[in-house]
Amino acid sequence: MNAKFDLSGKSAIVTGGGRGIGRAIALGLAASGASVVVAGRTAEQLEAVAAEIRAAGAKALPVVTDLTDSQQVEALAAKTVEAFGRIDILVNNAARSFLRSLLDLREDGWDKVFDTNVKAVWLLSRAVARTMMAQKSGRIVNITTVGAEKAELGMGAYGCSKAALKMLTRCMAREWAAFGIQVNAVGPGLTRTAFSQPIWSNADVAKHVTSLLPMGRIAEPEEIVPAVLFLASDAASYMTGHTIYVDGGALTT
Ligand SMILES: NC(=O)c1ccc[n+]([C@@H]2O[C@H](COP(=O)([O-])OP(=O)(O)OC[C@H]3O[C@@H](n4cnc5c(N)ncnc54)[C@H](OP(=O)(O)O)[C@@H]3O)[C@@H](O)[C@H]2O)c1
Repeated sequence: MNAKFDLSGKSAIVTGGGRGIGRAIALGLAASGASVVVAGRTAEQLEAVAAEIRAAGAKALPVVTDLTDSQQVEALAAKTVEAFGRIDILVNNAARSFLRSLLDLREDGWDKVFDTNVKAVWLLSRAVARTMMAQKSGRIVNITTVGAEKAELGMGAYGCSKAALKMLTRCMAREWAAFGIQVNAVGPGLTRTAFSQPIWSNADVAKHVTSLLPMGRIAEPEEIVPAVLFLASDAASYMTGHTIYVDGGALTT
């Protein structure tokens, strides 16, 4: 492995690390040498991912956390420091959405999307940044989406929340660069997870959607991971405030 990509001795938190893209990121960070805290609300999923990481010879800690609860968010940062002594990498991956038109979406639905996809990212990043500032180093990678750039039917609140996350990425990058903290984002295109199952599990819908994609297929979760590993590593030593899209060319259309 090129030494610049080596994450040995680093400690990472992955939110939504129990399944889908977050699980793949947690396994990828561990395979590159990091100790990984996996956070989410479903204990069994977190424990399964932690067991996979440990079986592969790395350290892992599952921490059940509802990221919309600020006390649990603070506790997640504290437990990570308690377990691994430092926090080098934070991947804000957890998110939620409702497939609803803007006319049909309920007010509490809008709030749940923004509380999870924007406010929770700010709360956890702020909690973690205090530790990273004391270390004078840290990497934050936010998972956004091509929907931050393109209006997608039935995904209005989600797209708006991810566009806000893109700007939050830039604002945190600007405020915290002087403290040695770099903040970037990775924006996947359509990826095969539970989140997108209504699309890829319906043959007609899947055929239509993939016909619109230049590469003619959706992504597998593991294909999103290398961009995250790059941004978490010394290879990205002069990058901050940017979004890398991993989208099979979706944003060219
Ligand atoms: N799949 C796609 O096509 C696609 C495309 C573009 C971008 N993305 C982005 O990729 C990221 C991962 O998506 P995915 O497809 O892997 O989705 P997923 O399978 O639905 O996973 C979402 C994760 O977020 C966690 N989560 C949600 N609300 C939470 C809360 N309040 N507190 C703690 N954890 C919470 C979930 O865990 P619990 O339910 O156990 O809490 C779950 O682990 C998201 O940011 C999504 O926006 C996905």
